[in-house]
Amino acid sequence: MTTMASGEDDTSVRRIRLMVNGQNYTVTPDVPPWTTLIDFLRDNVKLPGTKVFCREGGCGVCTVVATIPDQEVDAGFKTIGINACQTLVYACAGWRIETIEYLGDRYTGYHSLQKALSGFYGTQCGYCSPGMIMTMYGQLKSHGTLNVNQVEQSLDGNLCRCTGYRPILDAFKSLAVDGSKHLKDKLADIEDAYKSCPKTGSICKGSCKSGSVGCRQENQEEDISTQLEDFKINVGSIQWYRPVTIEGIKNVLKKIQQDEKVYIVVGNTGQGVYKDDGPYTTYINTANVKELYDISLNVPLAMGANVSLSRAIEVFEHVAATYPGYQYLRVLQSHWKMVANVSVRNAGSWAGNLMLKHKHPEFPSDIFLTLLGAGAQLTVNHADSPSAIQIDLEQFLQTDMSKSVILSVTLPPLTQDEQIRTFKISSRAVNAHAHVNACFKMELDPTDGYRIKRKPLLLFGGINPDFIHAVQTETYLVNKRLTDVVTVVEAAKMLGNEMKPDAKPQDTSPEYRISLSQCLFYKAVIGFLGNRVSSDIRSAGSVLERPLSSSEQDFDMNQDTWPVGKGIPKLESTTQISGEAVYLDDIPLLHNELHGAFIQSTVANAKIKSIKPSEALAVPGVVSFVTAQDIPGRNSFVVNAGGRPDSVFVGKRVSYNGQAIGLIVADTRDIALRAAKLVQVEYEDIKKPVLTIEEALKAEREEMVMNTLTGKKEPYTFGNPEDALKASKHKLIGEIHQGSQFHLALEALAGRVIPIEDGYDVFSTTQWPTETQAAVAQVLDIPAHSINISVRRLGGGYGGKISRENVVVTAAAVAAKKVKQPVRVTLDLSTNMTLVGWREPYLSKYEVGFNDDGKFESLKVDMISDGGYVANEVSVGFLGSRLQNVYYIPNLLFRPIIVKTDTAANTWCRTPGTVEAVATVENVIEHVANYLKKDPLEVRMVNMVPPAVPRLMASPQERNVVKEDILPLLKQKAMYSQRVEEIKIFNMENLWKKRGMSIVPLWYQHDYPPVFSYGIQVSIYEHDGTVAVSHGGIEMGQGINTKVAQVVAYKLGIPIDKVILKASDTMVGANSIVTGGSYGTDLCAHGAKVVCEGLLQRINVVKEAMKKTGGKDPTWLELIKKCYTEGVDLCQRYWTAGKEHPDNYEIWAACCLEVEIDVLTGQYLLRRADIIEDCGRSMNPYVDIGQVEGAFIMGLGLYTSEEVKFDTTTGQKLTNGTWDYKPPTALDIPVDMRITLLPNAANPQGVLGSKATGEPALCCSYVVVTALRNAITAFRSANGNDHWFDMDTPITVEKVHQLCGVRPEQFMLSAKEESSPTDFSFIIKDQIPKENSENFCPLN
Ligand SMILES: Cc1cc2nc3c(=O)[nH]c(=O)nc-3n(C[C@H](O)[C@H](O)[C@H](O)COP(=O)(O)OP(=O)(O)OC[C@H]3O[C@@H](n4cnc5c(N)ncnc54)[C@H](O)[C@@H]3O)c2cc1C
Ligand code: FES
Ligand code: FES
Repeated sequence: MTTMASGEDDTSVRRIRLMVNGQNYTVTPDVPPWTTLIDFLRDNVKLPGTKVFCREGGCGVCTVVATIPDQEVDAGFKTIGINACQTLVYACAGWRIETIEYLGDRYTGYHSLQKALSGFYGTQCGYCSPGMIMTMYGQLKSHGTLNVNQVEQSLDGNLCRCTGYRPILDAFKSLAVDGSKHLKDKLADIEDAYKSCPKTGSICKGSCKSGSVGCRQENQEEDISTQLEDFKINVGSIQWYRPVTIEGIKNVLKKIQQDEKVYIVVGNTGQGVYKDDGPYTTYINTANVKELYDISLNVPLAMGANVSLSRAIEVFEHVAATYPGYQYLRVLQSHWKMVANVSVRNAGSWAGNLMLKHKHPEFPSDIFLTLLGAGAQLTVNHADSPSAIQIDLEQFLQTDMSKSVILSVTLPPLTQDEQIRTFKISSRAVNAHAHVNACFKMELDPTDGYRIKRKPLLLFGGINPDFIHAVQTETYLVNKRLTDVVTVVEAAKMLGNEMKPDAKPQDTSPEYRISLSQCLFYKAVIGFLGNRVSSDIRSAGSVLERPLSSSEQDFDMNQDTWPVGKGIPKLESTTQISGEAVYLDDIPLLHNELHGAFIQSTVANAKIKSIKPSEALAVPGVVSFVTAQDIPGRNSFVVNAGGRPDSVFVGKRVSYNGQAIGLIVADTRDIALRAAKLVQVEYEDIKKPVLTIEEALKAEREEMVMNTLTGKKEPYTFGNPEDALKASKHKLIGEIHQGSQFHLALEALAGRVIPIEDGYDVFSTTQWPTETQAAVAQVLDIPAHSINISVRRLGGGYGGKISRENVVVTAAAVAAKKVKQPVRVTLDLSTNMTLVGWREPYLSKYEVGFNDDGKFESLKVDMISDGGYVANEVSVGFLGSRLQNVYYIPNLLFRPIIVKTDTAANTWCRTPGTVEAVATVENVIEHVANYLKKDPLEVRMVNMVPPAVPRLMASPQERNVVKEDILPLLKQKAMYSQRVEEIKIFNMENLWKKRGMSIVPLWYQHDYPPVFSYGIQVSIYEHDGTVAVSHGGIEMGQGINTKVAQVVAYKLGIPIDKVILKASDTMVGANSIVTGGSYGTDLCAHGAKVVCEGLLQRINVVKEAMKKTGGKDPTWLELIKKCYTEGVDLCQRYWTAGKEHPDNYEIWAACCLEVEIDVLTGQYLLRRADIIEDCGRSMNPYVDIGQVEGAFIMGLGLYTSEEVKFDTTTGQKLTNGTWDYKPPTALDIPVDMRITLLPNAANPQGVLGSKATGEPALCCSYVVVTALRNAITAFRSANGNDHWFDMDTPITVEKVHQLCGVRPEQFMLSAKEESSPTDFSFIIKDQIPKENSENFCPLN
């Protein structure tokens, strides 16, 4: 609490007030003005239910619901979902915030949204769950009711890495007014399963005004409305103003001095895009200036500057439907719906967006482009000017806005002949900025061949900061007719010539952006002409429309072992849906706990000349600067056998851009992060970094990996590959590059170290506590027994927390030792993405020999893995067997190679190496099929491994389950043959949209490595017979705890609610191996079974005696009490390496995927996926289906949108946030998703007949590449090009487009075969010169 600063005037206040979950809170000037609502909620209000990850508005985990003044209605309020990470807490004065904690919890009952998410199995790690629920809650509150379409569109800003979204969509669709009967029936069952409202006794609808717990309270407006007047608060030397009039804004602006920086705060969402625009000396929050929300429905339409994007979309819809001349607003409406996501659009204003464009001309603003196209005028007022001026959008860009405020925009009506088409092409379906956006406006005379009556507008974003108009092309088009194909082709060519895209490494290539712009122009023309073009071309005019998604799940439930085999929600799901589930950073701070922030290198391969921390150390609140000199033990967080050192802090030489140089330790996280930026590091001997496998090979940084069969560094061989290759009739050589992937656990890497009397209590986001314990011991040079590690759960792992978290926790440990206080380090997203390595990139080079049928005779493969700067965690060594997938390769040579690059050490990522090996052989199959002009499925079938045949490092299979069981069922369920024909017809009828379908089968070897063991303890409490279990595995969303509880309940014969799972720790789980590779659940479930059997041996002796004396079976409680009084040990521990260890087994699966591509843009739609996986007798079908779906969607991201880019000069990883790195969203998954767990599939080797499910389905996701290949091939073949083409992954929209190789000469208005509806002249494919149609693909 501070006293009032100088500069007080009548409007100065000492605090602002807001309401959180029905309680009033004050914010006083000791809270910095840049503090976000999420930090206030978590740190000040102590509500950790709302999670935080990206702080960029890009992931949705921080969503809360805000009731805010509705300036369009007198004394009105409205309720919206917002990102708490984007909202500044001072902007919340007078607001009412609801967080997940308010919706419901175990004490008070749950909201229907919460129950649905849990009951539909929509939580895995649970980190995204509160945000998902609050987003839907906000939408429900804003709209009253939702239909299924609205539900689907609502989740455009919420990421989930675990589930693959399908169950989340189902859960929320069950609450939609038009939700399907089967979803509603299921919801009713779920509701029945929960306790009803404690107040009313009926099912909670989430809208009760009784104020009973678990329900919202409605009567608080009077408490919060008091702070709606003009005010100012002095926050240290910074002023925060909240005027209520435009004059008030101008008065503040007038006072601004030259050296001061002012920020007009509306939604503050701009900081999600441009984080470094501050620091500011003055904040002007204009949220209470009523005029800025004015909407005038006269002609012209006018909207105040603060009108949110969401509100503008509603206005556009209304005006387009109501007022003549405004139909074009439908185009703007659908374009603006593609801007950002629901929460950003709810908070963000159109004027704020324009100001981003004003400050950053390179920003591909959709708002700027579309308003410019519409001929909008801005009203802008300079502080010193008594009246406002009107300017157009281009004048606005040239206007000095330093002391001006945008007041409003006016949109004119258009004549009937004026038409607008706009486009936005980005890396995924939603919540992604444009690679290129475009707006075309033309005044056309339809009676005269669609003559362009006056100069049209051809506007583009994403080309270069200065390029807006295609001036030459605009001029050329005046008075030309769109029905003249020569005009269209010439204009497209001219457009290509006048565009000069800049070449920034994080952007798509200039070639793509030129071609895309030409194609968008063609698209616009076709759209304008509508039915005037022939039907097979018409589809060029539209973009891909995603229909409402649907799903099916088909599985057996084996009742004889219930609850094993029963589909029950995850044990933790109820704490996850209420925000009560505790993740590391949710643990309350100790009174003396400090925070650490890393200083990272800004070059990749250089010597450190000097480090100057003095400026950072001078910041109030900074406690210490920690470097390699402070490490008492070994400067490496790698401890596993044979592991090469990976330093905690750089010693002398930097190895990669982003490497940790030191840690600033401070009182708060905010101070630590800000001070870390002030540490100055000088470098010398800077070398150009080696960043790719090719560069590393050139620099001779390659090394063969040990052959585990021979113990030497030599290839694996099977048969006689060299001779067989020589003898083969057909031979092909090829290669396939596969890119990296960020694990994207939504819970960031974090470590917390607390000095205690005999060592340290350590909390870490680790999948492997044993290794973390050893790493801390090694770095601090203390015994392992003095380090206590406990892990409750992880918010996702996927391999990214097997070892990489140890750099964080060891740095925290060094700091804790130095300052003798607890230290917590939670990484911000950018640090998380650049400090540690990701999935290894791979290059596979192959030579294959085969016969006329496509049957393999010999295959030689080099698989080269990029290990990063130190290659400890490469998977390439064991891939020889995986490379064969379901096929028999009689002669095989496999060389596993690693290279070192100047990048962070790469690491295991879900299904490491196996997915790349499967992809390699599938690519070879496709290559062979292309060469022989055969259907790839035919080639797959002739190569299917027969029973009892030996293969490289694989024991002979009894049956080929894929061939015999899965493929026939899949083809039947997916109606494969029928759809193949339908696709052929579609492709014939559409020149610019093509469909493709493919099947990828899978054989997955599940061999238990000898070191994979876990400790398990089961304790039965005599008091009430309840049971607690702890195991050495880690719950990170995969359902290990649920399956273990099911096994314990089944074996002990007790209800599952008597079983509870405790955190994993290094006492019970001492020496346990990493949880990964789909081994943890299997082995811990197995361990639980053995432990229970051991306990039962003792307990049953007592039981038999009781039966004899009592004449009947005792109850469980009677039995346990008796055991206790007789001194029976009711606890037992087991180490899973025991003699009962399960045997190795195989997992089989296949996926059929159909895609559609828009050739002109490269965008694609995944139309339908059918997956069948053999899960044995599933222990929990819903958990297993969740694993299959989640793995598959993660793989789709790997192979499509998740692209990694580096700055080639500095080695900086440029894809370091949600703005540039794009995992799939709920609107990128297959529209129709059908999962079948193979029926009648017992597994005698597995635990209670089950099979692992965490990883295999990821391998099937390569089907997206083969299906896209099929669609691209359809276009290329139709244009006379049947050549093989490489498909290096990820196959982004850019690549799809470039592989199709579109040229303006192909732009037609009518196909040759059709009689043209008008006197169009046209170019047909036969007229394209032959040499151009050969090998035209720029990526070939
Ligand atoms: C995750 C995410 C995705 C996005 N995707 C897209 C996208 O696909 N396409 C796209 O075009 N945009 C996108 N955006 C940008 C988004 O549209 C803007 O952040 C938003 O519209 C800004 O509005 P705001 O009210 O939050 O502005 P603020 O962040 O509050 O302010 C932004 C700037 O505008 C100034 N300002 C605000 N109002 C006025 C005024 N009346 N007069 C003068 N100056 C003013 C402020 O001083 C500040 O400099 C995205 C943003 C995020 C976070
Ligand atoms: S943390 Fe707020 S959107 Fe990601
Ligand atoms: S459950 Fe959604 S991120 Fe884990």
